[in-house]
Amino acid sequence: MTTTYPIGIFDSGIGGLTVAGAIHRILPDEQLVYFGDTEHLPYGDKSPEAIRNYSLTIGRFLVSQNCKMIVIACNTASSHAYQALVDEIGDQIPVINVIDPVVAALIKAGKYKHIGVIGTKSTIQSGLYASKISNIDPALKVSSLATPLLAPMIEEGFFDNNISHTVIQSYLSSPKLKGIDSLVLACTHYPLIRKEISEYYEGKVDIINSAEIVAEYVKTELDRSGLLNSLPAKGHRFYVSDYTRSFEKSTRLFFGEKISLKLHRL
Ligand code: DGL
Repeated sequence: MTTTYPIGIFDSGIGGLTVAGAIHRILPDEQLVYFGDTEHLPYGDKSPEAIRNYSLTIGRFLVSQNCKMIVIACNTASSHAYQALVDEIGDQIPVINVIDPVVAALIKAGKYKHIGVIGTKSTIQSGLYASKISNIDPALKVSSLATPLLAPMIEEGFFDNNISHTVIQSYLSSPKLKGIDSLVLACTHYPLIRKEISEYYEGKVDIINSAEIVAEYVKTELDRSGLLNSLPAKGHRFYVSDYTRSFEKSTRLFFGEKISLKLHRL
């Protein structure tokens, strides 16, 4: 495997750009190939089988693009397709999910007693955050809430306005999240509304942003596998399975004006 090969990253849409942006910030020499499966968005209300099939097809595409690592920058796909991807391509390249690094970081922090988790229906129904956390520390309380409107709302560009304030307020005031000391943003779209979520809690609850935690983990893993690139990065490539204006706009937001966005049907 050549160190100059790109890192493959995928999500259902723009959410994974929060992870890609964080990877780009701490690893500016790495070339990224990003795939947003905009044709099948949102993943959060699809069946586990459908999510697995989309993810495997994207994984094969990223391997065909010579990626040296795959980052599943989506909690929903991490919940339902991680093992299938490891089984199929894990002997060729490392596959990273967004759940395990966050669980490890929460435990390592050692200061939380009651952790809130918000994510898509599919992620919350998988129960993975709660089971992984309590497998390591059964004394930790985990309260999870599905917040299915948030990813489509963000994908449509609704953040930092009256509509997003109302939707966020109505979810976070749920009795299910009462008494939490930390809140995991278990959907990669949610860092885009992190400010609004922090304002809701007035600094009394720690907001756990998986994008930065996963980016640090990617760095450690590349280093461990001898795959870190030290030459200046070639241009990033962005693929979508269906062209949307909002995807292009958000990509420019994270990566500046000069982006190359290509259509690739699955
Ligand atoms: N960004 C994705 C996640 O982390 C999912 C959003 C969706 O497509 O429902 O779960």
